[in-house]
Amino acid sequence: MMKQPRRTASKSKAAPEIRLILGVLQLLLTARPPRSSNLIVMVLAFLILFGATVILPADLLSDEKPPLLPPVNFTVTVTGLAQVLLRWEPSPDQERRSIKLGYHVKINGPQEDDYETRNTKSSRETILHKGFSASVQTIPWEGHTIPPSSWVSAELSAPAGAPGTSAVNLTCTANTVASDRTRSRQYRVSLRCTWLAGEASPEDTRYFLYYRYGSQTEECREYGQDASGRNVAGWFPATSIDGQGRGSLAVRVNGSSSRAAIRPLDRLFALHAIDQVNPPLNVTADIEGSRLSIRWDKPVSAFPTHCFDYEVEIYNARKGYLQVEKMRTQEFTSAVHDISKYSIRVRAAVSSVCRTAGPWSEWTQPVVMGSDEQKAWTEWLLIVLTAAICFLFVFSLTCRSFRCRLWATLFPPVPAPKSHIKDFIVTINYEKSGSGDTEVEVISYVDAPELEVLDDFVF
Ligand SMILES: *[C@@H]1O[C@H](CO)[C@@H](O)[C@H](O)[C@H]1NC(C)=O
Ligand SMILES: *[C@@H]1O[C@H](CO)[C@@H](O)[C@H](O)[C@H]1NC(C)=O
Ligand SMILES: *[C@@H]1O[C@H](CO)[C@@H](O)[C@H](O)[C@H]1NC(C)=O
Repeated sequence: MMKQPRRTASKSKAAPEIRLILGVLQLLLTARPPRSSNLIVMVLAFLILFGATVILPADLLSDEKPPLLPPVNFTVTVTGLAQVLLRWEPSPDQERRSIKLGYHVKINGPQEDDYETRNTKSSRETILHKGFSASVQTIPWEGHTIPPSSWVSAELSAPAGAPGTSAVNLTCTANTVASDRTRSRQYRVSLRCTWLAGEASPEDTRYFLYYRYGSQTEECREYGQDASGRNVAGWFPATSIDGQGRGSLAVRVNGSSSRAAIRPLDRLFALHAIDQVNPPLNVTADIEGSRLSIRWDKPVSAFPTHCFDYEVEIYNARKGYLQVEKMRTQEFTSAVHDISKYSIRVRAAVSSVCRTAGPWSEWTQPVVMGSDEQKAWTEWLLIVLTAAICFLFVFSLTCRSFRCRLWATLFPPVPAPKSHIKDFIVTINYEKSGSGDTEVEVISYVDAPELEVLDDFVF
């Protein structure tokens, strides 16, 4: 090999340097007899020698050392759904006694990544339907003065399948459910996924859904179909997903058909992003005087109480005003000055205190508080009163004119000249004609001698 002679050459070159330092030291020590006053010189010499041994070899290595040797037997193997293991061995020809070795791993596809490690294996989560490719090189772990090795690569080819047969638009949501069956786990997590059939997938395509969480992989047993009878939704009532699940969930939709090879589709989901948090429980609201207090309970969730953010929405129906408050506690009080109907809803989200913040839950069913009936009631009373007064006013005029029995009973008749009946009819006619002079007419009537009677009645 070419590299071997270069390494030995550098070694033989390092020797004269050290011999030179030793020579200088000898000269210093022999020039004057070693006396206590010469201690400084000795310390100085020692420091020079020490410094030389530390600094010099590194200097020499940077110029003279050959690059490291690349790892051998680099392999990539599929260890699970959307999971691979990268493995390599240090070159047996690499001299290791003086250098700490590390490795620089580069993922070339499907998603580029780049990291350094001292291990000789590395497990990766990655989608695999587009194939996978990675490279690794040997690097010095401490100090970067030695050139790294050349790269060695390995790859997995994309799984077979006709273009356009793969499922598309795969989405999933996880949801925590209170567990009634098992006593070991208080909560279980269900998973629901939907997708669309690939545009080139034959009618007889059967899609299958799998998920992997940690080391557990499960196949779906409950599917929903599209119009052509192809599976386009899958439902896992209970999964191995942890109720406080962090990290990622791997999902695969593959399939089979008698007419074409169906391409699989992989997706990695961040659990916090697909976790559909349940809405809060038992929302109650109370108005006491001018205080509106709202309370609720934590949603069904494996997360403890302190892990939630809440949003309270109060809708003032009279003003058409929407108030939204964000909080950590499970109650909220607000001053209310209006007699109004309030519609209250609450929603929850796992807070960043406990996990990367995810989406909000659905709103709770609105709780309706207070009423605008009181206002309606007073309005109605006003209308009824006005109507009653008007009616009685007209009634009094009409009846008195025609001498109703009721009127006669209530108010003894007052004798009046006939001419006044005519006056009154004229008044009525004026009112009907809508001339706008009703007031004048009324006043003219008021001038009549029966003024006292009218006064008595109306007021
Ligand atoms: C590399 O693989 C070959 C064949 O599998 C094996 O004989 C050899 O020992 C391996 N080398 C190292 C360094 O593990
Ligand atoms: C499916 O996804 C593509 C792009 O990813 C988007 O353009 C399309 O609207 C989606 N189709 C449906 C039905 O959601
Ligand atoms: C689909 O993927 C699962 C999990 O990787 C595998 O066990 C199964 O054989 C695949 N099915 C087809 C039809 O490719």
